Amino acid sequence: MADLHSNFLGIHSPNPFWLASAPPTDKEYNVERAFQAGWGGVVWKTLGLDPHVVNVCGPRYSTLRGADRRILGLNNIELITDRSLETNLEEIARIKQRWPDRAVVVSIMVPCEEEAWKWILPQVEATGADGIELNFGCPHGMSERGMGAAVGQVPEYIEMVTRWCKQYCRLPVIVKLTPNITDIRYPARAAKAGGADAVSLINTINSVMGVDLDQMLMTPHTGNQGSHGGYCGPAVKPIALNMVAEISRDAPTRGLPISGIGGISTWRDAAEFIALGCGTVQVCTAVMVHGFQIVRDMISGLENYMDEKGFRTLEDFRGMALGSVTDWRYLNLNHVEKAVIDQTSCIKCGRCHLVCEDTSHQAISTSLMGERHFAVREEDCVGCNLCASVCPVENCISLRHLQPGEVDKRTGIVVSDQYANWTTHPNNPMATTA
Ligand SMILES: Cc1cc2nc3c(=O)[nH]c(=O)nc-3n(C[C@H](O)[C@H](O)[C@H](O)COP(=O)(O)O)c2cc1C
Ligand code: SF4
Ligand code: SF4
Repeated sequence: MADLHSNFLGIHSPNPFWLASAPPTDKEYNVERAFQAGWGGVVWKTLGLDPHVVNVCGPRYSTLRGADRRILGLNNIELITDRSLETNLEEIARIKQRWPDRAVVVSIMVPCEEEAWKWILPQVEATGADGIELNFGCPHGMSERGMGAAVGQVPEYIEMVTRWCKQYCRLPVIVKLTPNITDIRYPARAAKAGGADAVSLINTINSVMGVDLDQMLMTPHTGNQGSHGGYCGPAVKPIALNMVAEISRDAPTRGLPISGIGGISTWRDAAEFIALGCGTVQVCTAVMVHGFQIVRDMISGLENYMDEKGFRTLEDFRGMALGSVTDWRYLNLNHVEKAVIDQTSCIKCGRCHLVCEDTSHQAISTSLMGERHFAVREEDCVGCNLCASVCPVENCISLRHLQPGEVDKRTGIVVSDQYANWTTHPNNPMATTA
């Protein structure tokens, strides 16, 4: 049977599923029930200095839904904890005492001043917590006050504050990064330079959810004004995976432990983050939408998958998919694929024809002997995958890899078994000789 036990920076948890710093972790009552449900760890809702912040009393959350009403994205304008530091610290200490086998990491955000960090760190350490996470990611409200993403967008600040934390605290330091930046590798490098033990990512993405066209007001709004919020949930997972992979394969940060966050709703999402190098994963939106119990499915699903694949521990497959992520210029230009339509499952809706006709390569015919019939003309198909992406029937359209020696009917060229990429291609003015 697979062993899901996780050892992240010496912080042990029975499984890699942690709750991200957010409303589900903002008080003892919640965390107690989360641990009863089986969560391996929590990152406590971000602590700040007293007097504590004040949230708006109006819509804090709003969602983007698909046609079937499933929630694809969540937007929030919530700040850090709006309870006193003392109350939070007492509750953290009690939780850690009652749940010694679970990971309890405390998220912190205080002004970018050495004295502020020096003052709060020993108090957090005294709770018995296992680690701290520096919230350099919150993109709304707190960033206007020079904290959160305002720090995460300046690598020099990240390095400076991380260094203070390493100096004034003995606990492992996890730096939580903002995705609201052009190149995620720079803040990650800065965190490492400051001595961070790990990074976690992503925090939420700047977003405005919509506009009420009758009232001409952005939505949601408080009174008649709104401000941008942070976006998360399933829609952000691809962005998070890319950023995780960027950091994992960047030479200066290679090997830096990562806690993956962003749109994780199932064991499969979690396994993907682990396969790209993450040691633990953190979940927020999925729990806000479905409740703490979803961890049961996550645990059993991951166990089943690992058993099926013969992975005994998380380390057996952590980072295993990373080697498949590369730069575009290294992709094999001799690799050729063609779309194939399975006629037995095709419902003849015509969507594949429409998209290929109006966007791609006009490679799908619509009739055969006077009957409605959709088929791919290989002499036009470039294997772009658009038809398969829009087809409403699962697995009805697949892509076939042409074997070396076969003729590509579009180009008339025999498919080569040689790997050849853009760096050496004759059309590349900068080509180098192989
Ligand atoms: C309502 C809400 C409040 C949040 N509060 C915090 C916070 O206090 N500190 C923090 O580091 N991240 C906070 N986050 C960000 C989450 O921890 C997480 O990074 C983000 O939601 C992406 O994960 P998800 O897609 O699973 O939601 C908050 C997110 C939401 C939705
Ligand atoms: S989109 Fe799919 S189901 Fe519709 S016609 Fe094309 S292959 Fe058939
Ligand atoms: S893979 Fe692209 S080019 Fe080929 S049939 Fe589908 S949409 Fe057209």
